[in-house]
Amino acid sequence: MKSRHATVQLCRLLRESEGNIVSGGHVSRVLSLSRQAVWKAVRDLEEEGFVVDSVPQKGYILWELPSNDLSPSLIGSLISPECPWGEEIHVFQSIPSTQEAAKRIGRQSQTDGLVVIAEEQTNGRGRRDRVWISPRGTGLYFSVFFRPRMLPGRLQLINLAAGLAVRDAIGAVCGKPVSLKWPNDLLYGGRKFCGILSEASSDPERIRDCSTGIGINISLTREQLAVRGLENAASLGAGTETVHRGSLCAAVIEKFYRLAADLANDGGYSLLSRYREECSTIGKNVSVLTEEDAFSGRAAGIGDNGELLVEGKDGIRSFCAADVVHATPDVKDR
Ligand code: BTN
Repeated sequence: MKSRHATVQLCRLLRESEGNIVSGGHVSRVLSLSRQAVWKAVRDLEEEGFVVDSVPQKGYILWELPSNDLSPSLIGSLISPECPWGEEIHVFQSIPSTQEAAKRIGRQSQTDGLVVIAEEQTNGRGRRDRVWISPRGTGLYFSVFFRPRMLPGRLQLINLAAGLAVRDAIGAVCGKPVSLKWPNDLLYGGRKFCGILSEASSDPERIRDCSTGIGINISLTREQLAVRGLENAASLGAGTETVHRGSLCAAVIEKFYRLAADLANDGGYSLLSRYREECSTIGKNVSVLTEEDAFSGRAAGIGDNGELLVEGKDGIRSFCAADVVHATPDVKDR
């Protein structure tokens, strides 16, 4: 299923009318659509599960939102019209990985900030070719495809922006305290519930395009996680009221867009000052594991390209990408 400009706009208009009838003439004027195109958009919304009544001679009234919380038009309508990302949203029931789908669809489209969401991934991928377990209906799995204007060596900054966006979105949508672990994990109760993977296609001069994939465990219980070998993982919503995945997804997209725009405007100044302030890794004793070796020390800071600076007994080493283990969990790891 895919959002269209017309269905997103219609959905926004009907939601704003708060249960009142909106005349067909008004809809076609405001959205600059023919009566027939409005009618088609209404039918498309109904296919997504919206309950809309057409009242003869009067207009349309929205009775119910879809029970499925991943309706592409609803998600599109929850994103501010000023945000250019999320103009095109594809939702699949089951695909191998949203990363591959976002690259494939995104490279054939001019749309910047195209979004691919899956109810289930059969080959969800994490960093270093790990598996990202993505069972149906229990998580939010999506990728944003965009064309950042930056040097390839600065890709890590995109991960940091995405991490901050997820943290901000969770604060806004569910008010939960989560912490950021360098480079791109989010922890709830000290355990990982969200991972981020940015993959770029680039030449030496510039990044051509980037697909940033975000996986959030929403409702897998501790037992369900343990059965899948994820004893140390967490779920954002397990045991509490349900998290509306569409609202969360919309909030992440909008916040990610704003942080990426700031990054393009000021070269990372505002992003880095926030990340340095909010990353729970800073100041901790850590073990850093790279493809080649392991290193222990105190996480001393974040460099200008998003790299982790670790102070060991022989001086400071900088890591562009690595796995980090916090040796001293603390209050920031709530
Ligand atoms: C990690 O922590 O290693 C990163 C995990 C990223 C998982 C997401 S889920 C949506 C997107 N599609 C994938 O196949 N991977 C990312």
